[in-house]
Amino acid sequence: MKPAVKVVENPTALFRAAGREFVRIANAAIAEYGNFSVALSGGSTPKGLYSLLATDAEFRSKIPWEKTHFFWGDERYVPPGDAQSNYRMAMEAMLSKVPVPEGNIHRIRTELGEPEEVARAYEAEIRDFFQMGRASVPTSRVGAVSKWPRFDLILLGLGPDGHTASLFPGTRALHEKARLVVANWVEKFQDWRITLTLPVLNHAKSVLFLVSGADKAEMVQRVLASSDADVLPAQMVQPGSGQLTWLLDQAAAGSLSLN
Ligand code: 6PG
Repeated sequence: MKPAVKVVENPTALFRAAGREFVRIANAAIAEYGNFSVALSGGSTPKGLYSLLATDAEFRSKIPWEKTHFFWGDERYVPPGDAQSNYRMAMEAMLSKVPVPEGNIHRIRTELGEPEEVARAYEAEIRDFFQMGRASVPTSRVGAVSKWPRFDLILLGLGPDGHTASLFPGTRALHEKARLVVANWVEKFQDWRITLTLPVLNHAKSVLFLVSGADKAEMVQRVLASSDADVLPAQMVQPGSGQLTWLLDQAAAGSLSLN
């Protein structure tokens, strides 16, 4: 399915458009099976969206927080209270301000031990939530053969090198075909990341890239408009039976020739 590319004027419009999409998808999922599963993206761009969802009357009152389950697309290998933590960012911007039950916050528990152990624990939590493999689960919540979880929404960002989640160019995680979550060594950071794998991203019902700023324009153009021989990680996000949407502000779309 070709991605939908929507360009809005500025970051404020971007967060409001993303907020409306979040509310729409959340309420559709809850109407269909009683809860909503979303994997949050990290970094700095989504902070504005999370803050809006938690504080703006147009959004806060329209989200059934008690039926929403929050996961993360990736996490830095740092303690949950670290300034670099994606969990901490989402807690401060949103989750600490809304009535979401603690049991609905499925963070990547980086304090558990080695990166591989952290990845396996997070995978187990995802498998448990999606009741992976139990025939009773309607296939709309897991892939047709119940091998993959089917998140209602996965939010993603775009790095200047074309990475998304913690799937960085040239890293091993890009080739993972069996696991839901892996520990991924990122040479340029000389550090580990924990990330959902491409098959999980590509089995989501809806994937929403949120990209803002002129510093991303060149990469947005490469990802959306060119067929690089060496496929960039963000180009590998192609949800086979899901909706892929790129939500850009004009600055990030600056190099796109949208006809
Ligand atoms: C992370 C993110 C990462 C992020 C991009 C864009 O852990 O950093 O998951 O994939 O989305 O790097 O980050 P910015 O929004 O800060 O530019």
